[in-house]
Amino acid sequence: MTDFTLNGKPVSTTPATGERLSETLRESLGARDVKIGCNAGDCGACTVLLDGMPVCACLTPTQQAEGRQVHTLTGLQGDEIAARLRESFQDFGAAQCGICTPGIMVAAVALLRENPDPSEQQVQDALGGVLCRCTGYRKIIEAVLAVANPTPALDDPVGHTGTAIRRLDGQAKVEGREAFGDDVAPIGTLEILIIRSPYARSAFVLGDLGGFISAHNGVETVLTAADIPGQNRFGVIPDFADQPVFAVNETRFRGEAVAAIVATPDFIRQFDPADFPMTWEHLEDVQTIEQALEASAPQLHKGREGNIMCGGFVKCGDPQGALDNADITVQADFTTSFVEHAYIEPEAGFAQMVEGRVEIHACTQAPIMDRDALEIILAMDASRIRIVPTGVGGGFGAKLDLSVQPYLALATLKTGKPVRLTYSRTESMQSTTKRHPAQISLQIGARADGKLSGFKFFGNFNTGAYASWGPTVTNRVPVHASGPYRIADYRAETQAVHTHCLPSGAFRGFGVPQSAVAQETLFDELAEKLGMDALEFRLINALDNGVPTVCGQVFEQGVGIKACLKALRPAWEAERAKANAFNAENEVLKMGVGLAAGWYGCGNTSLPNPSTIKSGIRADGTVVLHQGAMDIGQGANTVIAQIFATALGMPVQQITLMGADTDVTPDAGKTSASRQTYVSGNAARLSGQALRAAILAQVNAGETAGLAFGDGEIIVTDGELTHRINLSQLPADTEGYTFRAEETYDPPTRPLDENGQGIPYAQFGYAAHLVVVTVDTALGLVKARKFVAAHDVGHAINPMLVEGQVQGGIAQGLGMALMEEYLPGRTENLHDYLIPTMGDMPPVETLIIEAPDAHGPYGAKGLGEHVLIPTAPAILNAIYNACGVRIRHLPATPARVRAAILEAGK
Ligand code: FES
Repeated sequence: MTDFTLNGKPVSTTPATGERLSETLRESLGARDVKIGCNAGDCGACTVLLDGMPVCACLTPTQQAEGRQVHTLTGLQGDEIAARLRESFQDFGAAQCGICTPGIMVAAVALLRENPDPSEQQVQDALGGVLCRCTGYRKIIEAVLAVANPTPALDDPVGHTGTAIRRLDGQAKVEGREAFGDDVAPIGTLEILIIRSPYARSAFVLGDLGGFISAHNGVETVLTAADIPGQNRFGVIPDFADQPVFAVNETRFRGEAVAAIVATPDFIRQFDPADFPMTWEHLEDVQTIEQALEASAPQLHKGREGNIMCGGFVKCGDPQGALDNADITVQADFTTSFVEHAYIEPEAGFAQMVEGRVEIHACTQAPIMDRDALEIILAMDASRIRIVPTGVGGGFGAKLDLSVQPYLALATLKTGKPVRLTYSRTESMQSTTKRHPAQISLQIGARADGKLSGFKFFGNFNTGAYASWGPTVTNRVPVHASGPYRIADYRAETQAVHTHCLPSGAFRGFGVPQSAVAQETLFDELAEKLGMDALEFRLINALDNGVPTVCGQVFEQGVGIKACLKALRPAWEAERAKANAFNAENEVLKMGVGLAAGWYGCGNTSLPNPSTIKSGIRADGTVVLHQGAMDIGQGANTVIAQIFATALGMPVQQITLMGADTDVTPDAGKTSASRQTYVSGNAARLSGQALRAAILAQVNAGETAGLAFGDGEIIVTDGELTHRINLSQLPADTEGYTFRAEETYDPPTRPLDENGQGIPYAQFGYAAHLVVVTVDTALGLVKARKFVAAHDVGHAINPMLVEGQVQGGIAQGLGMALMEEYLPGRTENLHDYLIPTMGDMPPVETLIIEAPDAHGPYGAKGLGEHVLIPTAPAILNAIYNACGVRIRHLPATPARVRAAILEAGK
C-alpha cells in the first residue's frame, strides 16, 4: 500500500513493484491529465509536481510518492500562478494540440513559484525537458514570460475573420481536460498487444493459438488475419490499397503486425511478446532505393515491376535545349532521410459495441476515411460503424492512415467487449508512416541576365513496404519542384520505390520540402556563379499574376511570392551586414545568413476534394456549427467558426461547436494538404450565408440587417425596423433545428494531361524564409539564431494562429535540416531520434502577407504545409554563407558538417 496526497486529497493505492507513478495516476487514480508520450523520460509530457518539484512521472516509481504531495495540472485549478498561466497560454496560443500542455504548464508553475520574473534563458532551462512538436516553443516562452509582465488580453467581442482571438477550444487544453485517444477508455478495459515482426522481412509460422489462450489467465482471444471478415487490406488511395491489417506468411517491414492478443491490463503488462507461440525466419530484404532497384532484388508486390510503385511527370518547353543554351548551369545530387512525425501523442483509442454497431473513439485526421476503410475490412455496412474522434495530440500527416482502428474494431467485434489500444512510443515509430527519403538529381541553367534557362529534375522516393501516400508524393513533387518561379523549359520526373522499410506517407508538404532543398540551394549556387544577389535572382524569376506555372496554369490574381521576397529585403541587408562584422572578429564560430522560398497548392491534386459544413438554429436560439474539419492543433475549430460567424453575422463566441462524429457531422474531408481553411472554410462561409439568407427571407429583411440570437428568438434589425422571430413557433426538424443549412464546396481543378499540364490546384500559398545561423567550424555544430518568415496567406483569418503555424512549421523544418533521421531498428525512441527542444528554437519574426485569393474564403489561403518548405534550404544556404560548405545529405548533423569542412579544407 502506498499513501500520498494527490491534488490536495489523501489517496491509497497498491502499485506493483516499480510501477510508474504515471501509470498509477492515470489507471488507478483517474488522473488522465497526466499524459504519456514515451515512458522513458524523453518527452516530459507526464511532468507532475512531487513536493512542488517537477518530475517525470514515468520515471518515478509510485512507491517513491509515499507520504508526499503530488500535483497534476487539474489539481492546480485554485493556484494563482496556474490561473495566470492559463490566461496567458490562451492569449499567446501556447497550446495547439494541447497534449504537451499539462506537462509544460506544471513545469512552468514550479519555475514561477521559485522565480516570479524569469529571463528567457531561465524559462528555456526550466521547461527544456518537455517536448512540444506543434508550437515551435516561442509562444510558450512568451506566455510564461507574460505572467510577470502581462500584455493586453485577446478579448475581441465579435471575432470575425482578420481578428486574433483565443482558440475556441483552448480552455479544456489549458485545464488538462482535453481527452485524447488514450484518455477515453474506462479503467480496467481489455487491452490489445500487437505481435510485430522483428525483421524487415521475415517468413513466420503461427503456433498453437488455442492452446496459448487456454493456458493463460487473462487472455480473452488472439486475433490474426483469419479473424478478418472482409478484406485484409487497407490504404488511403483505393487503387493502391495494399497494406494488410495482419501480415500473412511473410512480413515486409520491421514492426509489421502479424497477430494481436486481447487480454486484461495485468496480463498485457507482464507478457513478453517473445513468448508468443510462433517462429520467425529472417529473409533477404532491401532497405535502400539502390538495393530495391537492383535486377536481382526481391520484389515486394506483384504488378509493381522492379519495385517501382508509380511515378509522376511534368514537362513544358524544351528543357534540354534551354540547358544547352544557358550561360551557366549547376547540377547536384541530394539525399534526405526518413523523418518521423514525433507527435507527442502515440496512436490510441477505445472501441465498443453499441446496439450491434462498432463504435471507435480514436485520434485521427480523417474520420470518414477511417470509416470507409473499416467498412471494407469488416465487411460491414458503413451505417454500422461510428467513428468519434478524440482529441488529437498532433498528426502532421501520419494520422491520416489507419493505425489502431482495425485492431480495436476486430477485437470488440470478436469479444463483444470494450477494448483499448495505445501504441508504445517504439510501436508508434516502428509502424506508422514517415517522410519519404529522397534521392534527387537536379540540373538548372540560367542566362547571364539571371533568367532561368532549363530545369531537369529526377527524384526517387523510398516509399517503403506499402503505398500509403506514395502516389500523392510522386504526383505533387513534379508540380512543385520548380518552386514559385517562372520556368519555361522544365522537366520533373519522380518514382516511388518499394523497400522493406515501414511505409512512407504524408508528412507536412508531401515530398515538396525534399524537392525544395535541391531547387532552392541550387538557386543560390546559380546566383553566386552569376555574381547576383540571391534575393534579387529569385525576384527576377518569381511567379506573378498572369505568369504561367510549369503546369501551364495562369493565376490572374493572388500570386504573393514577390511580396514575400520583398518583405525579407530589410532583414536580408541588415543580417548580412551583422554577419560580416561578426565573422571579421571570429575565427572558429562563423555566422551565415540564408534564404529560400516555397509554394504549395492547397487541396488534392486535380481530384475532387469536397467539404460539407452543416449549421442550424435550435428553438432556444442556440446557433450550432457542425465543424467536421479535424482540429489536430492547427486551429480549424476556431478558424472555421470565425469564417462561419462572419458569413452569418454574429459573434463567434456565441457559436456552439459540434465536432467531427460520423453520426452527426457531415464529411469535411481529411485534415491534410493545407485544405481546411480554404475548402472547409468555404463550405462554412456558404453555410453561414445560406443560414443568414433563410433568416432574412423569413422577415423580408435587407441584406445588411443585423442579427441577434438567444432566448428563443432571433432579433433582426433592418434599418429602423426590428423583427422578432419566435423560434418556438417554427417547426423543428429531427435534429431540433428551426433553421438549418448544409453546404458543400469543392475546389475547381482540372486533370493534368500526359505532360502534367492542367489546373492541379485552385490556389497556392507562398512563403519565403530567412535564417541566421552560426557554425562552430571546429565541431560542425550549427545553431539557428533567428528566423524571419514571410507568408502570403491571402487573408489572415486569425493572425495569432497564423504565427503559431509558422513557428511550429519552422521548428519541424529545423529538425529536418539539422538533426532528424529515422533509422529502422536504431532510432525508434525519442532519445535516439532527436527533435528540436525549446533551446533549439530561436526567435521567429513572422511577416504576414495578404494577397487575397479569388477562391479563398474572404481571400484566405491554406498554410499548414507551407510553413516548413523553405526552412531547410534556407538553413543549408546559411551554412554555406557561414563556412563555405554545401551539405547535400540531410540532416546536416555536426558530423556531416564537420566532415564537409575538413573535405573542403576550410
Ligand atoms: Fe505541444 Fe502539440 S501543443 S505537442
